[in-house]
Amino acid sequence: MTRLSGKTALITGAARGIGLAFARAYVAEGAQVMIADIDLPRAQAAADGIGAQAVHLDVTRQDSIDTAVADTVARLGRIDILINNAALFTAAPIVEITRADYDRLFSVNVAGTLFTLQAVAKHMIARGGGGKIINMASQAGRRGEGLVAVYCATKAATISLTQSAGLDLIKHGINVNAIAPGVVDGEHWDGVDAFFAKHEGKAPGQKKAEVGAAVPVGRMGRAEDLTGMAVFLASPEADYIVAQTYNVDGGNWMS
Ligand SMILES: NC(=O)c1ccc[n+]([C@@H]2O[C@H](COP(=O)([O-])OP(=O)(O)OC[C@H]3O[C@@H](n4cnc5c(N)ncnc54)[C@H](O)[C@@H]3O)[C@@H](O)[C@H]2O)c1
Repeated sequence: MTRLSGKTALITGAARGIGLAFARAYVAEGAQVMIADIDLPRAQAAADGIGAQAVHLDVTRQDSIDTAVADTVARLGRIDILINNAALFTAAPIVEITRADYDRLFSVNVAGTLFTLQAVAKHMIARGGGGKIINMASQAGRRGEGLVAVYCATKAATISLTQSAGLDLIKHGINVNAIAPGVVDGEHWDGVDAFFAKHEGKAPGQKKAEVGAAVPVGRMGRAEDLTGMAVFLASPEADYIVAQTYNVDGGNWMS
């Protein structure tokens, strides 16, 4: 299928994991894709493997955002679709949260999302014709979790930014929506599992097994479970969808 034929997409944090699955799915649907990541060697290798392109991007730096967006426009001609996917995770009991960790997470997950969205929206408005912006939220943005306060707060902020940006930008024909995954296996969750092994005395792999068994579908998600929603939200079929956050989580959350 080529539902994104002729479209161009910038996907942040796509050197691995869910972002890379999005990039692969978009290429398969006919889009030209720019993988933008702070890890350029890995982004380049990933891009070479799927027929995409790669650019360095650190979403915590405005000069890096501006350069990556300009470079993408120069190389792909325009940006029709942005996926704000880059994010960091951290976990700690409330009494052990540090300001450094708080600043690091909000800088990547919230400011990075907002100012990358802003830079791409300016481009979309200037060239006309609208566009699609997809932010990566999480079930962690739907409710707090005892050991995950900062990450949960950044994802709640992402849902809120999606609502505000969605309402502001639709007059330019730019649809802003979000995807809220549940628990998706991969390198990210390897780190989460190791954290809970340390803080809750679990055996390696135990936390993954527990969260997987708790999903109504009966297993952890795979990155490929999310690609259908990412393609749909970037397609003309989603033109009437504005400022929404969709749960793609095997039934973990209802809203
Ligand atoms: N994996 C899950 O269970 C899960 C669940 C809910 C939501 N999410 C969200 O989905 C998205 C992708 O998750 P994932 O599991 O694939 O993550 P991941 O950790 O595997 O990948 C994140 C990518 O972001 C990049 N990155 C980090 N800091 C960056 C920066 N400053 N600038 C640019 N790139 C940067 C990393 O290099 C990496 O390639 C994230 O927004 C995450 O919060 C994931």
